[in-house]
Amino acid sequence: MAKKAEKAASNKTELKEDNDKINILTAEALAKEFKEHSVAEFFKKNMQMLGLYGKIRMLTTIVHEYVTNSLDACEEAGILPEIEVKIDELGPEYYLVTVKDNGPGLTKETIGKALGQLLAGTKFHRIIQMRGQQGIGASGCTMLSQMTTGKAIKVISGTGKGKAFACELAIDPKKNEPKIYNFKEVERDFRGLMVQARFKGVLYKESATGPLEYLRRTAIANPHAKIIFRSPKGEKIIFNRSTTYLPKIPKPMKPHPAGATVDDIITMAQATKAQKVSSFLKSEFDRMGDTAIENLQKLVNFDLNKDPKKLTWQEAETIINAFKQIKFIAPSTEGLIPIGEERIKKSLETIVQPEHVCTLTRPPKVYAGGYPFQVEIGIAYGGKAGILTQETEETQKSNANNAAAIDEQNQGAKVEIMRFANRAPLLFDAGNCAITKTVHDIDWKRYGVKDLENVPLTIFVNFISVHVPYTGAGKQAVADEDEIVEELRLAIMMCARKTSRYISAKRALIERKMKRDIFYRYIPEIADALSKITKKQKEHLINKLEWLVANKLKIDEKEEAKAVKKVDDEEGEDDEEAEEV
Ligand SMILES: Nc1ncnc2c1ncn2[C@@H]1O[C@H](COP(=O)(O)OP(=O)(O)O)[C@@H](O)[C@H]1O
Ligand SMILES: [Mg+2]
Repeated sequence: MAKKAEKAASNKTELKEDNDKINILTAEALAKEFKEHSVAEFFKKNMQMLGLYGKIRMLTTIVHEYVTNSLDACEEAGILPEIEVKIDELGPEYYLVTVKDNGPGLTKETIGKALGQLLAGTKFHRIIQMRGQQGIGASGCTMLSQMTTGKAIKVISGTGKGKAFACELAIDPKKNEPKIYNFKEVERDFRGLMVQARFKGVLYKESATGPLEYLRRTAIANPHAKIIFRSPKGEKIIFNRSTTYLPKIPKPMKPHPAGATVDDIITMAQATKAQKVSSFLKSEFDRMGDTAIENLQKLVNFDLNKDPKKLTWQEAETIINAFKQIKFIAPSTEGLIPIGEERIKKSLETIVQPEHVCTLTRPPKVYAGGYPFQVEIGIAYGGKAGILTQETEETQKSNANNAAAIDEQNQGAKVEIMRFANRAPLLFDAGNCAITKTVHDIDWKRYGVKDLENVPLTIFVNFISVHVPYTGAGKQAVADEDEIVEELRLAIMMCARKTSRYISAKRALIERKMKRDIFYRYIPEIADALSKITKKQKEHLINKLEWLVANKLKIDEKEEAKAVKKVDDEEGEDDEEAEEV
């Protein structure tokens, strides 16, 4: 026992000595090792934060970054987008990606920062409904290209008026600064931006998370865009625009006081041109009028006429606390740009080619007190809706006249949930997303869908906001904020109700057809028996009976056609009713 204790004690002193040694060494070593590093170096080591990981995911993310930039740029410049995406296979897991748009392009002065400097761009400092936010998309791709191939990217930019320029571009990761090579002015009527970059360690697959599916969904949610895709197999796939309507040009919004933080107040107060705190708040915040200022003055213990640059942290804190007690008008929603019910419908009809579509654009709502958002739903049923499996077509054919088959929903297709944030498809992290969770939480049996996993449905959900609450930097899933989940649930249920009415009308129509077939089958036998009893000619009786059945069913078919049409017409009429569900 005594020996044991002795040994433990000596171990302790050894340990203590070791620790002292380590401490001394670490402190000294640390002093020598102390270095700064740039944002670019940080992201170089953490490419997964940009969604750049996984061979298939990386290639899709690259296409996503370039295409969303093109769409953002075209929309802001009021141009109907035409985007060409080409992927060439240069070797095993080695590809060349080319994206060309007809947008405003970039200038000699901005191109370097835009594509060769991380955290630089035109969107981060504005509250605006766009797909990009942080200024790490395109430049993240430049970084990945040079990290995996050692090569710079190639760029051409032009305004379409005979002047364009071309250059090669890389990032200096140590300084997070662009490096430009081989800059050339070219006399070409090139309009827009073309980016060409090589990547190794990525893989092209035509799967549900591959670039082709990404572009198909982009086309669905952007019916005003023409998208041309040339795959590594040499195929050319064109998604034509189904409308020439140009979405409203996105407007930057002012922050709503309910979403502001102390740090926001301090930072904005330093930058403002206003002379007084009151005029600063009125000019920089949404819904901040004279009444709100009067109310605020009653709640804070300093004069709101003071210079905003002299505002202390404590005073800013009192402002934020007072904001919580003031009833502000809900944030302005004019910065939200929905696609619109008609356009979603047309788009789904053209690209998904279902049997029936119903769509819904809900009025704007607010989450977390200060962020306006809006939800759009489309449900496509039958035809080519859902994820088609190999046997789908055959089963659909053999089930075409079988009401029981509709009941069983077994048309061989699986449900497809298409998620979008500000019209950009979300293909990854489905399990983490409020949209997927809400779709699965709905009691679909109420809407005539027995097994959601096994039904020819494409459920389209577009979440739009000037501030999308993504769950991570990969920007692939919407966070489940209470107000968002509640609104999604309501919107999906309202749309599902319309679909369910179509399904039941269709079921009734098929039942009538089955009835007619049975009638016709027994007419000869009945005519035979009647002829024996009445001594009338059998042929004559058959004609009469057929006439009777046909006459009765003609009425039925007309009524059914009317009923199905009515379902279509009534869509949108009973929204308020459904709201009570
Ligand atoms: N195709 C394009 N046309 C015009 N400008 C572009 C294009 N692509 C990128 N840009 C500019 O480059 C900036 C940086 O792009 P990016 O790194 O993807 O960040 P973000 O899109 O988040 O702002 C954008 O803010 C935009 O100003
Ligand atoms: Mg971007």
